[in-house]
Amino acid sequence: MEAKKSFHTPVLLNEVLEYLDPKPGQTIIDGTLGGGGHSLALAKAIEPKGILVGIDLDPAALVEATAKIKDADIKSEIHFVKGNYKDIKRIVSELGLKEINAIIIDIGISSYDLEGSNRGFSFQKHEPLDMRFDPEARPAHKEKEPFTARFIVNHYSEKELKQIFDQYGEEKFSSRIVRGIIEHRQENKIETTEDLFNIIKHSLPAAFRFKAGDSARRIFQALRIEVNKELENLEKFLPDAFEILAKNGKLAVISFHSLEDRIVKHFFLEKAKGCICPPDFPQCVCGKEPLAKILTKKPITASEEEQKENSRSIPAKLRVIQKI
Ligand SMILES: C[S@@+](CC[C@H](N)C(=O)[O-])C[C@H]1O[C@@H](n2cnc3c(N)ncnc32)[C@H](O)[C@@H]1O
Repeated sequence: MEAKKSFHTPVLLNEVLEYLDPKPGQTIIDGTLGGGGHSLALAKAIEPKGILVGIDLDPAALVEATAKIKDADIKSEIHFVKGNYKDIKRIVSELGLKEINAIIIDIGISSYDLEGSNRGFSFQKHEPLDMRFDPEARPAHKEKEPFTARFIVNHYSEKELKQIFDQYGEEKFSSRIVRGIIEHRQENKIETTEDLFNIIKHSLPAAFRFKAGDSARRIFQALRIEVNKELENLEKFLPDAFEILAKNGKLAVISFHSLEDRIVKHFFLEKAKGCICPPDFPQCVCGKEPLAKILTKKPITASEEEQKENSRSIPAKLRVIQKI
């Protein structure tokens, strides 16, 4: 019998535990529950009488993590919430929680997303072009069609496509690929990962076609970011999460590409900055005190051993801040 594929292996797990240093009785929020790997370890560490809230947009992740954590017979209060981490303030207020000691988000895609979801996250599969983390998300768009990667490639203008491929994918052949998409969709709808991969491949200069996978990876990343509004979510989440943290509470973010890491880094620097007087002022007149301490001067990356065992950990960067 074929072994059941793992839903997801948590990355930087030891480092998350080291930096968050969870204690019995604390309240912790995991904004990206996924397969529940980080949550399970954190829930164990806050036993007894701790409170763990696990949030995810994907019902499949909630099913997986609920089973995993229930099987472990944790002696803490656990809440599983289907929702978006950008709504952390509302979620915490609806649960009536006050003293939040740590919050983590791990904003990569899970192994399940790539290999088991059938939602077109990987250009190596033959799947419908969906890419929503929440497959139940209702159409918010005027076209009354769900807002998926399929919608974007079939309806976005040339300018809009180019902008997301440049900005979120940093793809140097974006103009050629956009032209390929526009030409293709004049005849036929783009429905599947295979359709899109073939368009990307045939849009590249002949000498680059053998490396079509590199361009496809960047274009698929750009579509995923746009479908799920990933950068907007992060921008909304960071100040809200920081606000609801208790004194000495910690905020940890694991990111997987430079656009996200840059947002996290700047937010943390801003919170840790004290005086904002111009440098030529003889003495401080603003009186501004730092609101936080950065615990990871440089982002933490996976050990060589973890990178060898789990290649998904290679791009991961962990940054942690502590509220003062
Ligand atoms: C890399 S996985 C998390 C893995 C998890 N830390 C573990 O140990 O198994 C990322 C998860 O975040 C979820 N996700 C992505 N964006 C989200 C959002 N804005 N709000 C809530 N969940 C989100 C995805 O559905 C996915 O399950």
